[in-house]
Amino acid sequence: MMLRRAYYSDDRVQLLTGDALEKISGLAAGSVQTIVTSPPYFGLRDYGHPGQYGQERTLADYVIRLTALFDEARRVLADDGTLWLNLGDAYGPRKQLMGVPWRVAFALQDSGWTLRNSIVWHKPNAMPSNVKDRMGSRHENIFLFSKGSRYFFDLDAVRVPYTGDRKLSRRVHKSANKANTARGVWGLDEAQASRGRNPGDVWSISTRPYPAAHFATFPVDIPERCIKASSRLGDTVLDPCSGSGTTGMAALGLGRRYIGIDIRSEYHELAMDRMALPVSSATHTEESTHGQDPTH
Ligand SMILES: C[S@@+](CC[C@H](N)C(=O)[O-])C[C@H]1O[C@@H](n2cnc3c(N)ncnc32)[C@H](O)[C@@H]1O
Repeated sequence: MMLRRAYYSDDRVQLLTGDALEKISGLAAGSVQTIVTSPPYFGLRDYGHPGQYGQERTLADYVIRLTALFDEARRVLADDGTLWLNLGDAYGPRKQLMGVPWRVAFALQDSGWTLRNSIVWHKPNAMPSNVKDRMGSRHENIFLFSKGSRYFFDLDAVRVPYTGDRKLSRRVHKSANKANTARGVWGLDEAQASRGRNPGDVWSISTRPYPAAHFATFPVDIPERCIKASSRLGDTVLDPCSGSGTTGMAALGLGRRYIGIDIRSEYHELAMDRMALPVSSATHTEESTHGQDPTH
C-alpha cells in the first residue's frame, strides 16, 4: 500500500498539501462524486507560492494549466459525477474585458467536458464601483460540467420555496402549464410545483467576510447548493484549491466526505478551524489515506 503525507486525515476528511494536479493524480479513479472549486483568478492575487495558479505569463497559459488540472480531475470523478467551477473575469490591456471564465469553459468543452449550466452569481452586496465609463461588475460565473449526458442531479434537494401568495403562484404555474401543453412542451405538474421552484441560473447570494483569510472566500451557501444537488449522503466532495475550506465546511455539514488540496498548508489550518477538526495526533502524520489508488 502506498503511503502519502496528508496534512490531516480521518474517516471523513483528507487535507493534502501541494500542487492540485500532482495531488489529484494520487487519487483513485472514480472516487469523487462532485468537485466544487474556485481556483485563483487570472492575474488577480499572489498567493505567495511558486506554481500557484493565476500568475501565469499569459491568459492562454492560465487556460492550458486549468484545462490540464480538470482533465486529471475528470479521471477521479465518478462517471455520474459533476464539476462546479467558480471563476471571475478580469480586465486586460487597453481596458479589455478578457472573458476569462468563458475561455476556460470553452477549453474544458473542447477537452471533453459537457457544459450544463452557466450560472451567474450575482453579488447584491458587491463593493460600490468608481468606474465612470462602464457598468460596475457585480457577478461571477459558476459553471456546471458533467462527464457526459447522464449524471447524478437531485433537483428536489435544492428547490426554493415559492414566495408570496401560494394560491396565486399555483394559478400562475397552471396557466404556464396550459401554454406549454398547447405548444406541446411538457410542464411541471401540481405536485412538483408544491415542492418549490428550480433555483434557476442566477443566484443572488451576498458575499460574507471571512477576515482570517486574506483572499476572497465564496459564501458557504454556494458550495452547499452545489453539493446538495450533486451528491448523496456519504459521497466524497473534492476542492483542489481548498483555501480556507468553505467547500469542506459545506460538505461535512451535509454529511459528505471531503478532500481538500491546497498549495499552502497554512490555509489548511484555517480550514481545520472552520470544520472544527481536532488538532491532534492525526495532523501532520504519514498515513495511508482513503480514496487513493496505488497505481497513481
Ligand atoms: C480563491 S482561493 C480559494 C478559496 C476557497 N474557495 C475558500 O473558500 O477559502 C484559491 C486557493 O487556491 C490555492 N492554490 C493556488 N494555486 C494552487 C495550486 N497550484 N495547487 C493547489 N492550490 C492552489 C491558493 O493557495 C488558494 O488557497
